[in-house]
Amino acid sequence: MSNDTFYKDHWVEIEADRLDRYEAQFVWGPRGNRLLEPAAIAAGQTVADYGCGPGYLSVELARRVGTAGQVQAFDINADFVKRTRDRVAAEGLSERVTVTHLQGDMLPLGDDSLDRLVIKNVMVYVDDPLASFREFLRVVKPGGKVHAIDSDFYMAAFDPIDVADWRAVLDAGIHAFRTPAIGRKMYGIAMQAGFTDVAVEVIAAPDTSGRMLNFIKNMAGYAREGGGHDEAIVSRVVDAASKAVADGTFFALNPQFLVTATV
Ligand SMILES: C[S@@+](CC[C@H](N)C(=O)[O-])C[C@H]1O[C@@H](n2cnc3c(N)ncnc32)[C@H](O)[C@@H]1O
Repeated sequence: MSNDTFYKDHWVEIEADRLDRYEAQFVWGPRGNRLLEPAAIAAGQTVADYGCGPGYLSVELARRVGTAGQVQAFDINADFVKRTRDRVAAEGLSERVTVTHLQGDMLPLGDDSLDRLVIKNVMVYVDDPLASFREFLRVVKPGGKVHAIDSDFYMAAFDPIDVADWRAVLDAGIHAFRTPAIGRKMYGIAMQAGFTDVAVEVIAAPDTSGRMLNFIKNMAGYAREGGGHDEAIVSRVVDAASKAVADGTFFALNPQFLVTATV
């Protein structure tokens, strides 16, 4: 994979162990309710889940829109498309969820066809965030909402990982993200795209259970694939985080930026 397009290629082709880590990482839980709240998802709506991953969010959205609603789920990874279809079917929700394997950045949807578009932890990977927001403005109907949730990877903090060590791993693996500081940028990008009513919230919920260890391991993998890393530092980071999770001293904070743009 080329470092220039790694941010996308590493999603189109995912190694089996990383796929399994995502299954564990993105399970829907009570934390998710707070992240979704500003989207005001309600019964009867047609909602897109852009970059659906393993499909937990699609299932949650399908429950919320009820029998009169519809969910349109999209992803660029074929395994995630299959996993989402399987997960939706296992929950008995296939009739209200359509899962599409997305080939580009434009959506195969007509103008004004959605009440809501939810994009969670995907804006950081899209080719052109401004073009994506413009596309969202096209497909969401007047009065509808685009709800984007994402990290800002320069604001994530971990302990007891050495600050300089973490920064070295982040720098070595940064090619895994198209726009690593997307969190702070989404408000301005949404305004630039033509939205006029844009609300922003930041939710910073500490993780002391070790959930973020999967993210640290993924970053170590990206750093190693980039080839410009220092193996001693990468190993030290993974070892320090793993040991802290095992002995109960792990602390991580990865603020989530919630940008809700009303059409
Ligand atoms: C970090 S996961 C988030 C999954 C899901 N939204 C969630 O929060 O559970 C990122 C997902 O976005 C998908 N993705 C990455 N780039 C994309 C793009 N340009 N268009 C659509 N999906 C993309 C990946 O395949 C992956 O499933």
